[in-house]
Order: sequence, then structure tokens, then C-alpha cells
Amino acid sequence: MALQFALLDGRRHDRLGFACGIAVLDEYLRRLASQHQRDGIATTHVLTDDTQPARILGYCSLAAAQLRLDDLQPGDRKRLPAYPVPCVRLARLAVTRDVQGKGIGRLLLGHALNCALAMRANVGVRLLVVGAKDARAASFYAGFGFRSTAEAGNTLYLPLGKP
Ligand SMILES: CC(C)(COP(=O)(O)OP(=O)(O)OC[C@H]1O[C@@H](n2cnc3c(N)ncnc32)[C@H](O)[C@@H]1OP(=O)(O)O)[C@@H](O)C(=O)NCCC(=O)NCCS
Repeated sequence: MALQFALLDGRRHDRLGFACGIAVLDEYLRRLASQHQRDGIATTHVLTDDTQPARILGYCSLAAAQLRLDDLQPGDRKRLPAYPVPCVRLARLAVTRDVQGKGIGRLLLGHALNCALAMRANVGVRLLVVGAKDARAASFYAGFGFRSTAEAGNTLYLPLGKP
């Protein structure tokens, strides 16, 4: 079994078979992800296994975004210009139910981070940002070093460091 990341391809990937337990995340993959990818709104990256290449184990969607400088914690604002801070938004992350808890979410998060770092080689990007849907999801991201924005809420960010 070899795991691989690919951009969502509706002809190759079985979107209907994906079920993570959160209806809006399943629906997004089924109904909107391909359209958003075509329209330049978000890209969706899927993780599959070469023994069942159509089966989507998990996915993440990425889009360009920005945070206000004031959203960052004071220590993270140092030396930054007084402009909105360019980010990659991890717009969605989900793992299909029967493989949850096996490290797939961690792999997808690593992939999202690698995509943000690769983008940074050509376009200014300072943060990977995520809007966690609830406190439980926020604790998942906090476990990987994401920091809460200065304002209370479930937006978290991860500084990308220096290249
Ligand atoms: C949340 C989700 C993406 C995690 O993916 P996963 O493959 O099950 O997680 P992993 O096995 O990679 O776990 C990685 C770490 O996160 C922790 N973790 C997993 N799910 C968690 C959750 N819901 N809350 C807090 N921590 C969680 C694990 O304990 C593990 O930590 P450890 O290595 O210290 O043990 C997945 O369970 C899922 O799709 N859930 C439904 C959709 C959802 O809630 N998405 C988040 C949207 S904001």
C-alpha cells in the first residue's frame, strides 16, 4: 500500500463514497470542490492508496486569504508591515470515518503545510490559517502548534517561519 496525494479529479476519485461524519464536509467534496477548483476559488487535494486509487481517504482544500495584522498575537506582529498578512487558508480538512485516528489527518495537514511553503517560493505567504469549526477541531490544530488569533474565536494560524 502506497499513499499518494493528488488534486481532486472527479473522473478518477469517488466523491460519493467519502463520509467523514460531518455532512457539510461530505457535501462540499461532492458538490462544490470541483467547481471551486475550476473557478480558482480553492484547490482540493485528496489522499488515496494505490490499492484502491478511487477511494478518497481524506482531503484538504486550500485557498488564498489574509489576516489583519491585529489578528496576530503581539509577538508575531514584530517587524511586519502595517498591511494585511498574506496567508494560505486551510479551508477544509476531513478524513473518511473508517480510517480516522490512523494518522491521515496529520498527513493532510503536513501536505497543506508543504503546499503553503512551496507557494511561498513564488508568492509572499506568511501564515497557514484555519477556521476550526468548533473547540474540538481547534484543539486538533493547536496540537500541531497553531496559535489562536488575538481575538477570541476559532481562527488559528501557523507562522511559516523563514525559508
Ligand atoms: C479531525 C480529523 C481531520 C482528524 O484526522 P485523523 O486522521 O482522525 O487524525 P490523526 O489520526 O492524524 O490524529 C492526529 C492527532 O490529532 C489528534 N486528534 C484527532 N482527532 C482529533 C479531534 N477531533 N480533536 C482533537 N484532537 C484530535 C489525535 O489524537 C492525534 O494526536 P496524537 O498524535 O498526539 O495522538 C478527522 O477526525 C475528521 O475528519 N473528523 C471529522 C471532520 C472534522 O472535524 N474536520 C475538522 C474540520 S475543522
